[in-house]
Amino acid sequence: MPTRAFAAQSATAPLAPFAIERREPTPTDVEIDILFCGVCHSDIHFARNEWGFTTYPVVPGHEILGKVTRVGKGVTKFRVGDLAAVGCLVDSCRSCASCTRGLEQFCTGGPVFTYNGPDKHTGGMTFGGYSERVVCDEAYTLKVPSNLDPARAAPLLCAGITTYSPLKKWGAAKGRKVGVVGLGGLGHMGVKFARAFGAETVLFTTSKGKVADGKRLGADTVVISTDADAMAAHAGSFDMILDTVSADHNLDAYLALLKLDATLVMVGAPPNPQKVTALSLLMPRRQLAGSLIGGIAETQEMLDFCGKHGIVCDIEIIRMQQINEAYERMLRSDVKYRFVIDMASLKA
Ligand SMILES: NC(=O)c1ccc[n+]([C@@H]2O[C@H](COP(=O)([O-])OP(=O)(O)OC[C@H]3O[C@@H](n4cnc5c(N)ncnc54)[C@H](OP(=O)(O)O)[C@@H]3O)[C@@H](O)[C@H]2O)c1
Ligand SMILES: [Zn+2]
Ligand SMILES: [Zn+2]
Repeated sequence: MPTRAFAAQSATAPLAPFAIERREPTPTDVEIDILFCGVCHSDIHFARNEWGFTTYPVVPGHEILGKVTRVGKGVTKFRVGDLAAVGCLVDSCRSCASCTRGLEQFCTGGPVFTYNGPDKHTGGMTFGGYSERVVCDEAYTLKVPSNLDPARAAPLLCAGITTYSPLKKWGAAKGRKVGVVGLGGLGHMGVKFARAFGAETVLFTTSKGKVADGKRLGADTVVISTDADAMAAHAGSFDMILDTVSADHNLDAYLALLKLDATLVMVGAPPNPQKVTALSLLMPRRQLAGSLIGGIAETQEMLDFCGKHGIVCDIEIIRMQQINEAYERMLRSDVKYRFVIDMASLKA
């Protein structure tokens, strides 16, 4: 089916209208009319080839939420009219050690990401959610709790799961002190989840204007990370710090705040290598780790948790035509706290 979309044609070209082709649903596919798509900083890294592996044209977008318009005859989980969501993954091998543990994002056969991934159906690359519809196997399609506002739920599909998964794995809970670095799309969800899990939650931000919001979103304490004295006051006190920063920054400054055996978990993915002083890890024994989105079952668990606790994202709705301006604003840390594209603007 011919489908309207927005694509970048090169690392320096602004995103612009582009026609893609979506497949006819196979027996296990769900066709979704996209209502909303969140704008992740990874979309910028990809559109501008900052990680060096973008294939053009690229249609970004992996925080997709919409209404089911057609289902294949073998589909059991979805009916026409249901709300449905697609996150960062649309397929994987389904049989490797990672897939069988529900860690499809680490599929050794190669996870198929929602965009810029090898599309098994077309032989080309997958195209993401900056488009009017998507077709996805039901095994990789998520159910959206009906009590959540659809526009505010869309960014849960990446910003939500990317923070929920490591906070759970590294034990954010009552009695533990957890830091979140950066108050953007990921960071604001990190703060909300750390608080919901009962941890003492500290936000680190470079933006003085975000202090009040940090507290409103759930941080017990907000530290301006450029204030050396304020940073030093927390030395050696954290059980875990979740780093969501998208650009170059000083990792040693955060490692210094960890307790013995505590962990700095990178989810932010600055394109340049970041320096670490070995002594920051040695004294006292500390860990530096990374985490990538989450598997399908955990993404559903996260959505159900959000349904139960009424957790959604703080968003600014934009039209598809405003995407290039939105990217510029994100690069200035000027978004509260996720842009979400109202896809009706693409269909008008
Ligand atoms: N691991 C994964 O699976 C995964 C998934 C999604 C995204 N990501 C990556 O995570 C990163 C964040 O994504 P996002 O969508 O949350 O981005 P975002 O909304 O743009 O937020 C990034 C935040 O980082 C802080 N920041 C930006 N530049 C900085 C600098 N030079 N020094 C210090 N702090 C800076 C800012 O927070 P303050 O204003 O509060 O300082 C900013 O709001 C990106 O690199 C993205 O690719 C990874
Ligand atoms: Zn993302
Ligand atoms: Zn696999």
